[in-house]
Amino acid sequence: MKLKSIVAATLAFGITSTALAQVIGKAEDQIRWRQSVMQTVGWSMGRIKANIEGTYNKDQVIQAANTIQALANSGSGGLFQPGTDTGKGWRETNVKPELFASGSAAKLKEVGMAYNKEANEMAKVAATGDAAAVKVQFGNLGKSCKGCHDEFRKEEKK
Ligand code: HEC
Repeated sequence: MKLKSIVAATLAFGITSTALAQVIGKAEDQIRWRQSVMQTVGWSMGRIKANIEGTYNKDQVIQAANTIQALANSGSGGLFQPGTDTGKGWRETNVKPELFASGSAAKLKEVGMAYNKEANEMAKVAATGDAAAVKVQFGNLGKSCKGCHDEFRKEEKK
């Protein structure tokens, strides 16, 4: 698939340059990859939380924070191409169709950039090993996850 397209989503998830995203993979690959990115971010948030609530291990928190930072800066916005608003990756996508609407571009950019900023900050704070500061930044980062999920992700079916 050679088509290049600019979608609003490429502005989010850490793409701050105006470079065109190369479209890689079929729709179901893109959905699977973005779900995998999110799962890995979720795992890493879980690790940080466990360290805050339990015995604090600086190296583990650094690993997890660096993983989140890398994924937040990975350009995964490019995995939200037109035509992936429905479909199945590991499971049915939970993206809201609103993410692909041109009217949502400004909001998407806002929540994407907030996520980026907080993820970068998380890595910085983790490196200090200051557990109290990590706890505060974990809260800020978590808010940025919610900021996007509230707008662009469907409620999980329980
Ligand atoms: C810019 C928007 C955005 C941000 C920021 C974001 N997410 Fe997501 N997240 C989504 C979307 C959209 C989906 C649904 C993806 C799909 O099913 O195609 C999702 C899905 C998920 C899932 C479920 C994955 C699956 O298997 O279907 C988890 C877990 C998750 N996000 C965790 C996080 C965590 C933790 C953060 C913050 C550290 C975060 N997300 C930040 C948009 C975002």
